[in-house]
Amino acid sequence: MNYFKGIDLSSDTATQPSEEMRHVIANAVVGDEQKREDPTTNELEEYTADLLGHDMAMYLPCASMSNEISLMLHCRPGDEIICSDSAHIIAAEVGGPAVHARAMCWGVATPTGIFTAQDIHDRIRMDIPHTPKARLVVIENTANLTGGIPWPIETLRDVQACARQYQMALHLDGARLMNASVASGCSPKELAQGFDTVTLCLSKGLGCPMGALMVGKKEYLEPARRYKHLMGGAMRQSGMMAAAGLYALKNNIARLQDDHDNAKFLAEGLMSVDGIFVDNQPIPSNMVFFHLVEGLDPDCFLEKLEPHGLRFSQTGPNRFRAVTHLDVSREDVEKAVGIVRTVSC
Ligand SMILES: Cc1ncc(COP(=O)(O)O)c(C=O)c1O
Repeated sequence: MNYFKGIDLSSDTATQPSEEMRHVIANAVVGDEQKREDPTTNELEEYTADLLGHDMAMYLPCASMSNEISLMLHCRPGDEIICSDSAHIIAAEVGGPAVHARAMCWGVATPTGIFTAQDIHDRIRMDIPHTPKARLVVIENTANLTGGIPWPIETLRDVQACARQYQMALHLDGARLMNASVASGCSPKELAQGFDTVTLCLSKGLGCPMGALMVGKKEYLEPARRYKHLMGGAMRQSGMMAAAGLYALKNNIARLQDDHDNAKFLAEGLMSVDGIFVDNQPIPSNMVFFHLVEGLDPDCFLEKLEPHGLRFSQTGPNRFRAVTHLDVSREDVEKAVGIVRTVSC
């Protein structure tokens, strides 16, 4: 099957590496990553640790692996993880917390993906022999499935303080941490501060073909290397992809504002189409969630768009997601709205 050549708003993972990125990939200096002899991977790790204000970073093939390794490091079998009920670790890692960390997740039901210190207080069980131990709080920033919402810094700090009060560890699923930074005006360092471990994904808004970093305190990152091998995440000449990562971190962060602006523009356009209602207003970052209210059949909506060269993703029976990214221009957004309008009449 050929790759989709239309306007792909299904995810911010749908980017093609730019010419400049392809150039740095082709010219990367490489070595054996498993021996820690790949200079470009080493440079990416140092650069990212510094960018997020943490001790160390470890390059991995994907963000799910970084999350899962973090959970394994923090939890013992039977422990409890507190997170949002829409968190990626619950909704989209194939039950990984149960498989890898052998831990349970207690998902806080929240329409925004953001929860409070009180939500944690409410979930601390009595410390008696038959209760699971609340061990870890996982925060997803931005919260993906609830609309790409960045955490307010005050709420983040309250939740962190509460977790520490109960001697719990803190993991940040910052797959879209740079979107959170641009949307909130807080620096990546501020947003990563106070966590033991952090996941940062390179293959979403930052536009790399692959890769993620697990970042954090030395006491977690040093043992994490063994888990990387255990999970099959140790690589060889990974510098080619790490070079793309370095390029992305140096060039593609500030421009995320364009994606956020395009998402707002897209939401306005979609709201002007009869039968479409945008759910996550005001648009918090690069995602637009919408549903169909009349005249359109949600079951065949996406099928109808595809021949016109437009793709969204579906996250529920009548819930759709459009994500803007660096391969989507303002003109593409205008075209996309035009296509939806055509299909809807
Ligand atoms: C919030 C969040 N965390 C983690 C991931 C996992 O990323 P990857 O596909 O790199 O494993 C995703 C992927 O969409 C995500 O949205």
